[in-house]
Parts: sequence; structure tokens; C-alpha cells
Amino acid sequence: MAEPFLIGENMTGGYGTGADILHSCTLAVEKGEIAVIVGPNGAGKSTAMKAVFGMLNLREGAVRLNGEDITHLTPQARVGKGMGFVPQTSNIFTSLTVEENLEMGAFIRRDDFAETMAQVYDLFPILKQKRLQAAGELSGGQRQQVAVGRALMTQPQVLMLDEPTAGVSPIVMDELFDRIIEVARTGISILMVEQNARQALEIADKGYVLVQGSNGFTDTGQALLANPEVRRSFLGG
Ligand SMILES: Nc1ncnc2c1ncn2[C@@H]1O[C@H](COP(=O)(O)OP(=O)(O)OP(=O)(O)O)[C@@H](O)[C@H]1O
Ligand SMILES: [Mg+2]
Repeated sequence: MAEPFLIGENMTGGYGTGADILHSCTLAVEKGEIAVIVGPNGAGKSTAMKAVFGMLNLREGAVRLNGEDITHLTPQARVGKGMGFVPQTSNIFTSLTVEENLEMGAFIRRDDFAETMAQVYDLFPILKQKRLQAAGELSGGQRQQVAVGRALMTQPQVLMLDEPTAGVSPIVMDELFDRIIEVARTGISILMVEQNARQALEIADKGYVLVQGSNGFTDTGQALLANPEVRRSFLGG
């Protein structure tokens, strides 16, 4: 089988000199597909995302993007290679306006990013309306849109989202998922952690259940939703 577009393979490591959090953990996503990571609090989902983005020193394992070994690249260098990351917390500049946040997102670009900004505003029309307002004045769902929009400003090939629907209502969650599907249809790969496991697995091509830093279950989203053991232990029955 061909290599996935992005893969963090057999990742083992932790923070600083502390104990390992990840134990031979593997995550991957294909071009234009959606891969979803679910699992209990503290399972290491955010840690695994950070590892894929280069924010963790791996003791073992490798990260490859489009066949290239990027294991030792800095996060900024990975952005240059086409990766975008929206972390779980502190993912926007609250004192800056919406538009300034998007401009900050384009930090590595030397070309004209006006067209990309227009695309972000097409995807999230509310942001255009509020573009001159401080991002900190926005609702939770709107802030998440700013965070996703900011990451899109570098025109990534892979978008990594850590709990993009955290703290938003079910309706806003559905809308955000629709926008994420729209992004994936443009050919961008999505690697996403989600607390709303059922709904996220519904839209997932591939799903990963992480348990204590290891791969508990890996399958298509639909197969995980149908798996009695996954349902009982991780999806509330
Ligand atoms: N910066 C850090 N330094 C040291 N340990 C950390 C750090 N961040 C997380 N950990 C530890 O790593 C483990 C996994 O945490 P992580 O944040 O990856 O879990 P998670 O699956 O994302 O949880 P949640 O669903 O609550 O977001 C936890 O035991 C946590 O205490
Ligand atoms: Mg987390």
C-alpha cells in the first residue's frame, strides 16, 4: 500500500525529560481525507498532535509528509512544508482584530495573501462581518472559526485541529464540521482531535481511538461507530 500523505509512525516520547506519554503511537491521514482522533481525557491526543507538528522530541518513531522525513524539522519549518496547526488552547490573539489574526496567520508568506483571506471570509462569512472587531469579543464558535481561518492563511496541505468544536453548541458544531468537510473537499487533509466522538467519527474517513498514549482501535469512522467494544468503552454505549 502507498504511504499516507502524512504519517506519525510509532511515535514514542514525552515532555522534556519526563516519562513517555506516547507509546509507539501511529496517526496518518490521506490526501483530502479526514482522520479523527478520539479517546478519554489525558489519553495523549493533544500530545500526539504536538508530536506530529514537531513540538515534542520523539525518542522513537518518525513523521513523514508526502514521503519526506520531517521528524527533525521545527514546527515553523513544517508550516513551510504545508502543515497548519490549530492547538487546543490559546489559538487566537484575543487583543488583535479578526483581520489582524488572519494576517498573523500568513506570517510565512511573501506573496499577496488577499485572495486567501477572501476565501477564508467566504468559508466563514461572520468573520468578514466582524473583521475589525477584537477576536476576544467573539463568541466561542466564532473564535474557533478565527483559529481555523488563521491556519488556512498559509494555504496548508494538511490542517491539524485539536478540538475545533470545544465549548460550542451542537448547531455550531454541525456548522463547523460542514466547513471542515468543505475544506477537505478542496484537497486539504484534516487530522483532527474531537471530544464529540460520535459526530466526528460520522464525518471521518479514518478514526483513531487513543488509550494511554497507544493506539487502542484504528479503523474507518463507520467501522469504529459500529464496533461494540468501541461503543461501550468510548462512545457511551
Ligand atoms: N506540557 C506538558 N508537560 C508535561 N506533561 C504534560 C504536558 N501536557 C500534557 N501532559 C501530560 O500528558 C498526558 C496526556 O495529555 P494530553 O493533553 O495529550 O491529553 P489529551 O488526550 O489531549 O486530553 P484532553 O482530552 O483532556 O485534551 C497527561 O498525563 C498530561 O498530564
Ligand atoms: Mg487535548
